[in-house]
Amino acid sequence: MNRDSIIKKVEEFAKSATTEFDSGHDWWHLERVRKLALYIQNLENQGDRFIIELAALLHDVNDSKFRKPGNSEAGTIINDLLSDVGVERKIIEEVNKINKYISFSTSESPDNKSFEFMIVQDADRLDAIGAIGIARAFNYGGFKNNAIFVPELDKTQNRPSTILHFYEKLLLLKDMMNTQTASLLALERHRVMKEFLQNFYNEWYFPAKPDHSINLS
Ligand code: ADP
Ligand code: NI
Repeated sequence: MNRDSIIKKVEEFAKSATTEFDSGHDWWHLERVRKLALYIQNLENQGDRFIIELAALLHDVNDSKFRKPGNSEAGTIINDLLSDVGVERKIIEEVNKINKYISFSTSESPDNKSFEFMIVQDADRLDAIGAIGIARAFNYGGFKNNAIFVPELDKTQNRPSTILHFYEKLLLLKDMMNTQTASLLALERHRVMKEFLQNFYNEWYFPAKPDHSINLS
């Protein structure tokens, strides 16, 4: 099978494998990550575009947040799919390695970060920030029935909030990019999130000016 036909098969698989995921992890997330990753590859001029495209399309298919009990076979399904369509073993191994380490929640890194890994990870992280990142965060928070925001007075509730997720993850991502292209793209997306948070606090505490320290670095 030629590379274009392989990509078509993988697209079909990725679409059908993510139908039950929240809208922040659906096909359109995979499509945006693929576009971002290929854009970064083009400017950085590093890494193999075929591996990057496969890994971008498959990177969330095995996400533990959506895996049903007893349905842990996505890794095997990906291996079978790629070898059935004739992808070389070396490429399958690289795609698996990228999928294994890409998650923000995984503290491990592969021993040697390949350009393909760095680029797909940057693309995934870029899609978690900016306007799309804001939309995805609130969508995910709703999916988990988290609070939008838990103000100081309410902290005893101990309920997770989506605003807190900005401080725990989203505002940190701009300094975690692997490539210069992604670091530059992240700056504008970071600014959009800061502006959003400032407006959020202005409206939440209206008519007072928010007086607690909001660290929007
Ligand atoms: P990764 O795929 O790198 O492990 P996640 O799956 O944790 O990253 O995050 C993917 C998306 O889900 C991001 O847009 C992220 O903001 C959102 N998300 C994850 N955890 C939360 C949370 N607790 N509250 C709001 N959004 C979240
Ligand atoms: Ni992702």
